[in-house]
This record gives sequence, structure tokens and C-alpha cells, in this order.
Amino acid sequence: MRIPLIAGNWKMNNNIHESISLVNNLIQLSNDFNNNVEVLVCVPFTALYSIRKLLNSSNIKLGAQNMHYDEKGAYTGEISPLMLKEIGVEYVIVGHSERRQYFNETDESVNKKLKSSINFAIKPILCIGETLEQRERKIEKITVENQIINAFKDIKAEDAVKVVIAYEPIWAIGTGKTATSEEANEMSSFIRNVFKELYNEELAKQVIVLYGGSVKGENASELMNQTDIDGALVGGASLSAEEFIRIINFNQ
Ligand code: G3H
Repeated sequence: MRIPLIAGNWKMNNNIHESISLVNNLIQLSNDFNNNVEVLVCVPFTALYSIRKLLNSSNIKLGAQNMHYDEKGAYTGEISPLMLKEIGVEYVIVGHSERRQYFNETDESVNKKLKSSINFAIKPILCIGETLEQRERKIEKITVENQIINAFKDIKAEDAVKVVIAYEPIWAIGTGKTATSEEANEMSSFIRNVFKELYNEELAKQVIVLYGGSVKGENASELMNQTDIDGALVGGASLSAEEFIRIINFNQ
């Protein structure tokens, strides 16, 4: 059974004070959360430690937005999986399109980060998705398929099933343009097919597939009720406790 996951990705927003205030708001309202949904906040590195302490008394999970693949070494400015483990981080976003676009993250580094996060038992959320140009050229499926094949290179089935996939069409991120629920579901179902080819049918049924790209309270229900979508990776709308809770409670 696939448990829905609603994950907030705050990106480079919220200082420590603002982060504490937002999470306190979420905790106060958490009695009203949809019980059948796992809730996660992926906060900036600088807020991870303070937020971990706050979340200890709640069911909300903590995630980071990136990590290096090595456990330590001469990588100025980087954060290692061991450092995240020490804080008690449970999830990490890997290969977000903003990191691929602005920080030269490649399929190869994404593959290394995926293997490393599995190794250190931090659940990875692997982001994949096509640009508008790729969709217009009708190469969105082959793009996504290649991203999956490259990301999962040399990863065994028993590890692959631990990875959460976030399908985020780049043209829908932060633009207010959401993929239609049909488009998002069609790609999620295609992603499962790629897993079936790469691994097996059982794994294809088990893998958690999220949709990301301008998810809000008003469109969450329709997206989340699609057959192959198991949750959302939410950017902008996760910066407001009230809006994020509308998404968490998509089925109410
Ligand atoms: O990680 C989240 C995605 O990039 C979506 O961002 O909800 O602001 O469009 P958005």
C-alpha cells in the first residue's frame, strides 16, 4: 500500500526565526491533519537543527534540500549525509531541477547522491521532469525515461523501492501553470512503466510518485486523486501554514 506524502520544499526561504514560526503554526494545526498522509518539510540547512528539536513532538518529518555524496572531505561549502544524519534528517531532495539548472548537477552526480542517501538511510526524493521546449518537441517521455535510467544506474531493486520520485515538469515550477491532472497522471503512470522495464511490476506498483509544480490548496484534490499520483512536492504554497494544510487535507 502506498502512503501519500505531502512534502514542502521551502527552497531558499525562511531564516531560523521564520522557520520556527512556520513550523509552530503547522504543529498547532496538526491535530486537523489528514491522518492517512505523511507530512514532510524540507527546510534550509541553517534551520535544520532548530526545526528537528521542534518536530520531535510531532508527526511531521524533516528533510534537507540537497547533500553531497561523500561522508566527509575537502568539499568547501558542502553538507555531507553524515551531518544530516547527526541532526536526524529523514529525507533529502536529490536532483531538483533548480540544482540541475543553476548548480550544474548532472545525471552522474544525481546517481552518486542517490546511492549515498540510500547507503546512509536517508530517504531520497528524486526530482525528474522536462522543460517546456522538450514537451513541445514531444520528447518529454524519453527525457524522463533517460533521467530515471541514469539516476538508478547500478542501484538494485531492493534499494530502488526506497526512492520517492517527484515528477516536476520544469515549466510548471513557480509559474502558476500546473500540469493538468491528466498530464500529471499520464507521466506518473509512464514512470511506473519505466520501473517495470528496469526492475519489475511489483516495484512499479510500490514506488511512491509525487507531482510537483504550482500545487495549491485549490488544485491539490484533483491531482492527488489520480490513480498514479501519491502526493505532492510543494514549493511556494508550503511557505504558508494555512495553504500547506489545505494541500495536506486534500481529501476533506
Ligand atoms: O520543489 C518544489 C517544486 O519546485 C514546485 O515549486 O510549488 O513553487 O511550483 P512550486
